Amino acid sequence: MAQQLFSSSHLCHSSVSNRLNISLLSRNVLLLLLVSLRLLLGVFLPWTGSPLFIFPNRSSSSYSSLPSNWRDYSLPQAAKFVAKDGTVIVCTVSYPFLPFLNNWLISVSRQKHQDKVIVIAEDYATLYLINQKWPGHAVLIPPALDSQTAYKFGSQGFFKFTSRRPHLLQLLELGYNVMYNDVDMVWLQDPFQYLEGSHDAYFTDDMTRIKPLNHSHDLPPPDRNGVTYICSCMIFLRPKNGAKLLMKKWIEELQAGSKAYEGNDQPAFNWALNKTYHQVDLFLLSQAAFPTGGLYFNNETWAEETKGKHVIIHNNYIIGYDHKMKRFHDFGLWLVDDHAFESPLGKLE
Ligand SMILES: *[C@@H]1O[C@H](CO)[C@@H](O)[C@H](O)[C@H]1NC(C)=O
Ligand SMILES: *[C@@H]1O[C@H](CO)[C@@H](O)[C@H](O)[C@H]1NC(C)=O
Ligand SMILES: *[C@@H]1O[C@H](CO)[C@@H](O)[C@H](O)[C@H]1NC(C)=O
Repeated sequence: MAQQLFSSSHLCHSSVSNRLNISLLSRNVLLLLLVSLRLLLGVFLPWTGSPLFIFPNRSSSSYSSLPSNWRDYSLPQAAKFVAKDGTVIVCTVSYPFLPFLNNWLISVSRQKHQDKVIVIAEDYATLYLINQKWPGHAVLIPPALDSQTAYKFGSQGFFKFTSRRPHLLQLLELGYNVMYNDVDMVWLQDPFQYLEGSHDAYFTDDMTRIKPLNHSHDLPPPDRNGVTYICSCMIFLRPKNGAKLLMKKWIEELQAGSKAYEGNDQPAFNWALNKTYHQVDLFLLSQAAFPTGGLYFNNETWAEETKGKHVIIHNNYIIGYDHKMKRFHDFGLWLVDDHAFESPLGKLE
């Protein structure tokens, strides 16, 4: 039961395919063609001043390391390009979720952390679109989802999509602090000021049970099924041995249980936390600051009581792309309609 509830944050993707209507699909195919065309023009006709080669507000030297074809752009290059104070913020996104990416980016920009963002694009259309509008901020780690697979969430393709989170290990090995976020989130405050101390890994609880404000920052005890419900949706890691060990264990667990987890990387993350508990310095973030969507959106009384304490809102515990979008709308957290200009990507139309 609880298992089903928490995995809804991931299952939500699977109903997208049903909901995408033909017109949206064909619009996206058209967009993909347009993006490819622009890229071709940018590669072959640089003198036309394609936006690919115009980099406002940056000295040209900081762009000299950028490739002329984004296919060749690697995660280490992207990290080097965006990192500030040794920190990068990472998300993964496929084409249908670009509106959510943009919504999240607006909220990240309001906290002045957008410069550190690396988008791991799941398909080439996404890679090209983002880098065209915001050069250097998207990278694709092959294999890409083809445009068909990108829509078939719940498929093996989708499993690869969610299991990419362990790419965070590569960034740790390169020495960066890494914040990972799902894009169905909105920042209301700067989360970095809540990453107190110098622990290896920071994460949030996906359980809806209300805890006292002064709850422990230790890994919560397993429930009666013997499992914990830590969210793999928002993780902050310092490039220390403990964090690397946790990521290695997560990868192992994903590989060992790929069938059982059916595209959801969260159970594997919880087993990794369980098995590395004595070797990793963990820090559970405050529930009031980082509530699960199952609490924030479903208990108005609680949300009112803890008003002003919320830092990142996660739009999970809901199934369906349209429902998710509507819920952000209803709670005043759908920012892209009126504030797209605050996103480094601008309006995505
Ligand atoms: C939280 O506060 C209550 C009441 O002040 C106290 O009894 C409890 O021990 C505190 N819990 C923690 C984990 O500090
Ligand atoms: C790890 O999981 C086992 C089995 O559910 C449980 O008994 C144990 O308490 C867990 N350890 C931690 C640190 O959560
Ligand atoms: C909602 O939150 C209030 C205030 O924290 C709490 O007393 C109540 O039990 C919660 N309701 C549910 C259904 O969890």
